[in-house]
Amino acid sequence: MAPPAIAEAGPDTRRVVPMSVMKLSDDAADLPEKFVKSLGERPTIAHNDYCKEIPVISLKGIESESERARIVAEVGYACAEWGIFQIVDHGVPAELMKSMMENTLGFFKLPLDEKVKYATMPGGFPVGYASGSHRADDDILDWRELMVHRCLPKAVRENDISIWPEKPETYRKTLVEYSDTMGDLVTSLLGLISESLGLPTSYIKNAVGGDDAEQKILFNYYPQCPQPDMTLGLRSHTDYGTITVLQQDDVGGLQAYKEDRDKWVTVEPIPGALVINLGDQIQILSNAKYCSVEHQAVVNSNQTRLSLVTFANPSSTSQMGPAPELLSEENPAKYRSYTMKEYLPICFAKKTKKHYDALVI
Ligand code: OGA
Ligand code: NI
Repeated sequence: MAPPAIAEAGPDTRRVVPMSVMKLSDDAADLPEKFVKSLGERPTIAHNDYCKEIPVISLKGIESESERARIVAEVGYACAEWGIFQIVDHGVPAELMKSMMENTLGFFKLPLDEKVKYATMPGGFPVGYASGSHRADDDILDWRELMVHRCLPKAVRENDISIWPEKPETYRKTLVEYSDTMGDLVTSLLGLISESLGLPTSYIKNAVGGDDAEQKILFNYYPQCPQPDMTLGLRSHTDYGTITVLQQDDVGGLQAYKEDRDKWVTVEPIPGALVINLGDQIQILSNAKYCSVEHQAVVNSNQTRLSLVTFANPSSTSQMGPAPELLSEENPAKYRSYTMKEYLPICFAKKTKKHYDALVI
């Protein structure tokens, strides 16, 4: 498959990074005005006030029939009740997780002049380095620096790799390995989610385009913040894709909104665990049996925080919508069908936080 042109539909993005949040963190005694969030958006729960109820699922024994039944049941419960959960015993080598963290940290610690070489392009698809936001039209910024890469399909990765950082020296090689490993993990998780809906194992993987499905990998660096109560590291949002796999360090800051309790909950960093959250496509495909959880990242004044985020997205041409197999007279389709080409502009238009509302029948 030919890689999509870099300038496909996307928001205006920045080439010149006007400031570095890391530098502000070193210099500013007060939170600069353009990071001050409205009262309703500000954090209500601390970055380290952990919710112990968010499910933690061991994938040990996934190959055995009886253990797999347990895992599928746990995944089904977590998807329906939480939309976010953690996995352990997932088979991703600890060494690779550590190495990806170190390479990412190595990149963010480079001098700004070096990082700016990889800054996002105006009008282009949001890939590359940005600070505060990767959008030129944002009035209020987030307290983070970020780096985004298109990693799958492989043809896209091969096209983009020449614009990935050359420092640290092992960055590119490690990211290729990380991308492939996360790709396999996503396939396995989509199998479990499919089965939990009573669908064939390969159902969701096929629905999102099989090997043409897209993967983006995003690194977030959240510097220490002088007034963490007045801002966010990353504003509240849902992920527009299929599922997201997040690796975080031990600082804490990822929060999910538990709608039935009208409450934000903080995900506890567990050494070696990966956080999984569902994106809009699973909510729609499941006809709202599962939820695309709203989430955000809060910052703190003592420690920097790093997260490595893998987004699994459908291919741009996949025909998406509620799975017909799940629909009946009692459970009619809640959303119309569409392609990602149609969905992405809805997401980028920022009219509503819940993009899927635009598809409600
Ligand atoms: C994201 C995201 C949360 C975090 O990048 O989409 O939700 O904790 N990140 O970094
Ligand atoms: Ni997210």
